[in-house]
Amino acid sequence: MAKYVPEPFRIKMVEKIKMLTKEERAQKIKEADYNLFGLRSEDVYIDLLTDSGTGAMSSDQWGGLMQGDEAYAGSKSYYNVIDSGRDIFGYEYIQPVHQGRAGEKVIFPLFLSKGKYAISNTFFDTTRAHVELCGARAIDCVIEAAKNPAVRAPFKGNMDIPKLEKLINELGAENVGLIVLTITNNSAGGQPVSMENIKATSEVCKKYGLTMEIDCARFAENAYFIKRDEKGYQDKSIKDIVREMFSYGDIFHMSSKKDAIVNMGGVLGVKDGNNPVIPNIKANCVSYEGFYTYGGLSGRDMESLAIGLQEGIDEDFLHYRIGQCEYLAAKLDEAGVIYQSPVGGHGLFIDAAAMFPQIPYNEFPAQVLAIELYKEAGIRTCDIGSFMMGNDPDTGEQIKSDFEFTRFAIPRRVYTQAHFDIMADALIAIKKRAGEIKRGMRITWEPPILRHFQAKLEYINK
Ligand code: F0G
Repeated sequence: MAKYVPEPFRIKMVEKIKMLTKEERAQKIKEADYNLFGLRSEDVYIDLLTDSGTGAMSSDQWGGLMQGDEAYAGSKSYYNVIDSGRDIFGYEYIQPVHQGRAGEKVIFPLFLSKGKYAISNTFFDTTRAHVELCGARAIDCVIEAAKNPAVRAPFKGNMDIPKLEKLINELGAENVGLIVLTITNNSAGGQPVSMENIKATSEVCKKYGLTMEIDCARFAENAYFIKRDEKGYQDKSIKDIVREMFSYGDIFHMSSKKDAIVNMGGVLGVKDGNNPVIPNIKANCVSYEGFYTYGGLSGRDMESLAIGLQEGIDEDFLHYRIGQCEYLAAKLDEAGVIYQSPVGGHGLFIDAAAMFPQIPYNEFPAQVLAIELYKEAGIRTCDIGSFMMGNDPDTGEQIKSDFEFTRFAIPRRVYTQAHFDIMADALIAIKKRAGEIKRGMRITWEPPILRHFQAKLEYINK
């Protein structure tokens, strides 16, 4: 039986949402060229497009907004971010930026250029794009277990260590600019990376003299899974686990719109305060983001970020949050809907290839499911599959993704048990009629990079 973990908070402010009719929704998604990013949010009932920047801030964070120091240089709020960041990550240098991809733009050109490679357990789409914008190439190196959604295994986000070493040897260590460890591994289903694997990745980096960069948008969720599932961590605090996780890396960038529960913000960190990369980080920050004591954020945003970083590692909160995903998963288990199992940190990744075996990867089954969910119940999700992967930058061919997921990304502290019941009911209803859905999608227009945000699609008539 599905069991719901009660909210460790009460609700102080609400936002009205509306439900359109099925006919209205069919029209709206057509007008949006069958791209969920093209919908107006007011036409969405339950918005699971992303867990990024969509969380509900706490009364402490809203109070913090009023305390924001808007000084151009040396703002008090900047020092609060530094104190909070140092306290959590144990890194000496902390730099605010306006969001995660801004951090990628600041850091990656310092390590990557044409002819270089970056290897990750799995790159997130913007992270991959920033590698490519440097002229370098991005290679995913996740363990094989991650590629089979129905196989229930812990830490499916792990780096494949033997494969990583093999890749470094084949490419030549001098051509590998960065090793990027994504925790949790978003594109593989929000799957965690074990402490053992973080340590092993770090040992490979040390052996070959490579920099280990942690892409840590969801580091707190990752720490929760380590505490729950990895031997020897049950009695440790989340904070101690986070400290150990980061002790193995050299640099990190964080989209704080996830585990720091802010609507906008990001953080960079460098473990060693004497690392010669720091002046270059500051210089890039000044050029792209703004002076390094505000990094593209207003003082009030930095204030809520400093507070949110601490709230994100609260164990009661993490227990409730992961519990929401498990509640939905239990309902799907009862109905035989396949998802990346066990559930990851920030949502459920439904296996659309299993739901629609009749639709091939290059007709985007995960996009088809996302559209069905919107038409069925006004739920907005997104494709994390071949549609998102795009085309090979060298050959222009459609890349076949290892996964065809439709992602239910759960905003933090926003939706209640009744909303989760609607999500489950919608998926189960679609599964019942899945065999009748024969038509895949075709792209009628796409931009050269990060196409899934803007591409236009239509149904293929068979
Ligand atoms: N890295 C990871 C692992 C991410 O999940 C994201 C964003 C970023 C970097 C970029 O951060 O959006 O603040 O610039 N993920 C969001 C998502 C957009 O929906 O998964 P950003």
